[in-house]
Amino acid sequence: MPNSDPDERAWWQRGVIYQVYPRSFRDSNGDGVGDLDGIREGLDHLVGLGVDAVWISPIFPSPMADFGYDVSDYRGIDAIFGDLAAFDRLVAEAHRKGLEIILDYVPNHTSEQHPWFLESRASRQNPKRDWYVWRDARPDGSPPNNWASEFGGPAWSFDGRTGQYYYHAYLAAQPDLNWRNPDVVAAMLDVLRFWFDRGVDGFRVDAIHQLIEDETLRDNPVNPDWREGMAPVKRFLRSYSMDQPGTHRLIASMREVAKSYARERLLIGEAYLPIDRLMAYYGADLSGFHLPFNFHLISTPWKAKAIAALVAQYEAALPPGGWPNWVLGNHDRTRVATRVGREQARVAAMLLLTLRGTPTIYQGEEIGMTDVPIPAHLVQDPFEKNVPGFGRDPVRTPLQWDAGPHAGFSPVEPWLPLAQDFRLCNIAAQAKDPRSMLALYRALLALRRKEPALAQGAYALVTATDEVLAYERRDGSRRLLVALNLGGTPQELRALPGPGTLLLSTHLDRGGDAFGEALTLAGNEGVVGEFGY
Ligand code: GLC
Repeated sequence: MPNSDPDERAWWQRGVIYQVYPRSFRDSNGDGVGDLDGIREGLDHLVGLGVDAVWISPIFPSPMADFGYDVSDYRGIDAIFGDLAAFDRLVAEAHRKGLEIILDYVPNHTSEQHPWFLESRASRQNPKRDWYVWRDARPDGSPPNNWASEFGGPAWSFDGRTGQYYYHAYLAAQPDLNWRNPDVVAAMLDVLRFWFDRGVDGFRVDAIHQLIEDETLRDNPVNPDWREGMAPVKRFLRSYSMDQPGTHRLIASMREVAKSYARERLLIGEAYLPIDRLMAYYGADLSGFHLPFNFHLISTPWKAKAIAALVAQYEAALPPGGWPNWVLGNHDRTRVATRVGREQARVAAMLLLTLRGTPTIYQGEEIGMTDVPIPAHLVQDPFEKNVPGFGRDPVRTPLQWDAGPHAGFSPVEPWLPLAQDFRLCNIAAQAKDPRSMLALYRALLALRRKEPALAQGAYALVTATDEVLAYERRDGSRRLLVALNLGGTPQELRALPGPGTLLLSTHLDRGGDAFGEALTLAGNEGVVGEFGY
């Protein structure tokens, strides 16, 4: 958006979001699991890093069948994380430090232990029966249709007491709410108000593409492209169980609640969808999410041309006024430093923090954490237990604070094992090293804060070769060059619209150098420069 006035932008358009996975951020009470007071103690790390908002994965009471994504009370805090008083302390302190707090809203399903489900399953006549999706068996006793659970096995479980099946897009312990029932909608919108009234600045909305299902529950078609090694749920195209018409009307009702506050609250939607379908989650006339999460950097091959094509496709698909966003990883996906390697992870950081729109950093990316192999006897994730090889524990291991016992995360053995290299790869060590990954993240975030062109300026491709991706970010007369070498050998860029001055290299060794119409990038190096002057 050329000539944009930075002050007209909302905080979430200027800012950077950091995802905290609360079980693994910091353990303040010595039970091996992270907690709210731990997050509060760790806020200075986030302030020092230079982020603007903290999204915290679920902290509500939960039997932890899916580690908090199975909520048994939407208005409380699980004792493992603390209590409402600890939550209020965290919000107050975060706000004092200039950080926004974003929570995780899990509307698609509750825990099987939620009082609503306990009532619903008590009898067919229970007033809450229709709050969940119940159906009769087919005549042969089999489930109502062929839908599969994301975590393996059928998406229907039989309840012997009332003789019907209930639907669950995820675990049997996560029954789907029936969002076609207006009482469910009203109760769930009240949940948003409860937290907004408590000072929460926004929500990341979980699994939104699963919110409602085809009314007649048609069988999903077989996926002709399914191959051995792909997740079992992908054997079928989820044509009737996912991304259904009617979802957007419900998202708009969530947005109405967010809008009803003097300072509008932020809504981010989690939907793994192709770009064209993802765009619908901005809603008609932007009545939907402020930010439908864009996960495409996670799935796009780490090649300059592929990334250039992705950025072009995404930018072109955005609805008028729709604000872009980018993500390299989260608590469900292989870490970026594992996917592309530690050297390229530095280039990836520069990409994330110099593309137009709002970036989200996943806890640990700022020190280059990699996936941690989990021995079979320590596996926690139900997905891994159901479908070996798909588990998410390796990306959820404790944040590495220092070289001390248990990496300074906890005084006791943590709930998941630590990375073996934590004595070298940790926040304290990297804070002392002027060329560390942490130093790079801090420099990139500081540069982004100083240069509104990076968050908000227009994006234009300069070149995409086999190895190099170069683009310009322009805001009024301010023109910045970003040049990224996605390979390991030096590359020369020619015919740049230069000359200019380098502001930052991912190697943190040559800020201030001049460049002309040509610029040589070292292997695995990315740079930001300014044109002119
Ligand atoms: C989302 C969450 C994931 C969770 C699932 C079910 O994809 O990110 O961790 O297991 O929804 O709630």
